[in-house]
Amino acid sequence: MKYFIKTFGCQQNWADSERIARQLHRRAMRPAKELSDADYVVINTCMIRKSAENRAYGLVNNLSQVKQRRPLKIILTGCLVGLAYKDKSGRYLRRLRTILPAVDEFLPIEEVGFDWAPLRTDAVHAWVPISQGCNNFCTYCVVPFTRGREISRPFEQIVAECRQLIAAGYQKVTLLGQNVNSYGSDLVGQKTNQTNRTEALIRARHLKPVYVKHLGRLRIPTLFPFLLDEVARMGFAEVNFLSSNPCDFSDELIAVIARHPNIGRTIHLPLQSGDDRMLKKMNRWYTTKQYLRLVAKLKRQIPGLKLTTDIIVGFCGETEAQFNQTVSVCKTVGFAKAYVSMYSPRPATAAQRVMPDDIPHPVKKRRWQILEDLINQPQLKKRKKTSNQDGSAIISL
Ligand code: 5AD
Ligand code: SF4
Repeated sequence: MKYFIKTFGCQQNWADSERIARQLHRRAMRPAKELSDADYVVINTCMIRKSAENRAYGLVNNLSQVKQRRPLKIILTGCLVGLAYKDKSGRYLRRLRTILPAVDEFLPIEEVGFDWAPLRTDAVHAWVPISQGCNNFCTYCVVPFTRGREISRPFEQIVAECRQLIAAGYQKVTLLGQNVNSYGSDLVGQKTNQTNRTEALIRARHLKPVYVKHLGRLRIPTLFPFLLDEVARMGFAEVNFLSSNPCDFSDELIAVIARHPNIGRTIHLPLQSGDDRMLKKMNRWYTTKQYLRLVAKLKRQIPGLKLTTDIIVGFCGETEAQFNQTVSVCKTVGFAKAYVSMYSPRPATAAQRVMPDDIPHPVKKRRWQILEDLINQPQLKKRKKTSNQDGSAIISL
């Protein structure tokens, strides 16, 4: 049998697909060059926005026509299935089965797990997941419902995987997690062989839990810096990590990055909004001032730093003035790149349940375009500048 894995969405999904590929190889399947050559198609889905979800439905529809002409197995996995299996009422899974009758199997993400060695296609760069899921419950985000609560891989397991990568000649590694810099907070106090070793490591390094105000509990905020330090010392040409939450960006983490020139100088730091009331509505636990203070600290301590970010425009009730606050923060920071999204209500999220999606699409689109032009197409702005005769304000990055 020949398989093809179609992956939508984030790097976590790509990393999961590499593990799925390993499972299929063990079952004596081989990769098809093209989707059209495959007789076993795995669709790894994303739900972050409605448009991403629709792409999966579109593909299943196309494949269901192929299936009428020849034998074909269609397997659905990823976030759509994650949400369906986590919905205790079973309603969501029933709905998926009804609207996607061509799907032969719904594979929950958990079954992919961390135990399968990934089958990598890139021989230079490797994705290494360090945690799954998220505990932050940003009000717009479906991830805590599709991938569940945050589960960290044991420290030693990650270190072992990275050592194998170095031995196999890999030069670049990216540590992956929905909230990479909160890595390890769930490992403390667990009772398994692997996590006992992590606990011993925490004790040996005299790491002290601190009280985290927004979580209302003690936790070790400095395990990720130790992990990053350990991986950076292995000798990779480049070590990166994705994605970090500004709340968990500790001084220890900044110090580790500053110390290791092989840790990437482009850091992804999602802002989401530059307005404090919006941030609060989004359940993001920082203010604009705190974000900018962190940026200033990062720039001071890490020469050559470039920042990239995620921003949502048109979130529930966002006024023009609030959007302009975002524009203003973007100008202050000078992001090298921004992934700007128009707010899309997602099932199960707090925003979808209680906050009206009241910003009209053309307004979202206009705000999106303003940020795109400001951050992602500065050359366009520069060209406009040279032809600008009236001396009106020029956006500077
Ligand atoms: N609508 C639009 N964008 C979203 N994101 C997450 N959820 C939504 C949503 N419901 C964006 C955020 C996040 C990135 C991965 O996707 O900016 O950081
Ligand atoms: Fe979603 Fe927020 Fe978790 Fe990121 S930190 S995955 S935006 S809930």
